[in-house]
Amino acid sequence: MASIEVRNVTKVFQLPDGPLTALGGLDFEVGDREFVSIIGPSGCGKSTVLRLVADILQPTEGEILVHGESPAEARSKQLYSFVFQDPVMLPWRSVLKNVELPLEILGAAARKPFNDRPAELLDLVGLQGFEEASPNQLSGGMKQRAAIARSRLLNPKVLLMDEPFGALDEITRDRMNLELLRIWEETDAAVLFVTHSIDEAVFLSDRVIVLTPRPGRVFTDVEIDIPRPRGLELKQNEVGFRYSAKLRRALGEGAASAGIDIMTQETESLGADVPRPSGGSATEDEGR
Ligand SMILES: Nc1ncnc2c1ncn2[C@@H]1O[C@H](COP(=O)(O)OP(=O)(O)OP(=O)(O)O)[C@@H](O)[C@H]1O
Ligand SMILES: [Mg+2]
Repeated sequence: MASIEVRNVTKVFQLPDGPLTALGGLDFEVGDREFVSIIGPSGCGKSTVLRLVADILQPTEGEILVHGESPAEARSKQLYSFVFQDPVMLPWRSVLKNVELPLEILGAAARKPFNDRPAELLDLVGLQGFEEASPNQLSGGMKQRAAIARSRLLNPKVLLMDEPFGALDEITRDRMNLELLRIWEETDAAVLFVTHSIDEAVFLSDRVIVLTPRPGRVFTDVEIDIPRPRGLELKQNEVGFRYSAKLRRALGEGAASAGIDIMTQETESLGADVPRPSGGSATEDEGR
């Protein structure tokens, strides 16, 4: 069964100065245990797709299924978890207590099988020894590892990741890419991953979906037919370059296919645009 089905989804936001169509007839599937990335120009609706799958937003038209269930049902069964660009960590709790957060909505009996998991997961992501540290003592990469540990806590079937490594330097991003693949290969979860980095998308994914400029729809869907396990040399070798070039070309063609109307719309809406709302409540982290 498919992990995620997105069927002809349109999303229109009602703004004070009129409707804004963020997604226009989006259609794709993520298979069982598949790693699928979404790339596309800023504002084309990538974060919106993840929010629709996560039941944070509702589609205007169309249907979304997560393991055959509605996003609301999938949410109540904790079939998925979400990792944002800025890890949401409560600064007054230790790293371990932050990773344990999802357990707190479970009753004592339901949480019993998971009681040892937070410490095990911190080991898995290389944060052993930092259990009692405060999140403020962690680097950006370490915080993101803690967020990934937390996202695995209840063994979700689907991991939704919105530019999780976008704020990291290149070397840390490379390490996190390797670690994410290692963790994913040890689980049975599918991943839907949004990124601005073409190289990252090629390195991680089974398939890369290229969206058109807003209103976002699938321009092309490229299978990355490179065997696993993959090493970082892929980001610098001929095979990797070929796929990156293909995706870069598709992004350009997708923009061209959107035509002059879209370009005008982009220009007009630049001032009112809020292109990067992916930070969530991360500001809570700052200034404490
Ligand atoms: N809650 C909202 N209310 C109104 N408009 C929204 C809302 N969320 C997103 N939008 C608009 O929908 C469009 C798509 O936004 P979205 O955040 O999904 O883009 P994106 O592809 O993730 O962009 P980026 O690459 O910059 O993160 C944008 O024009 C944005 O301003
Ligand atoms: Mg976004």
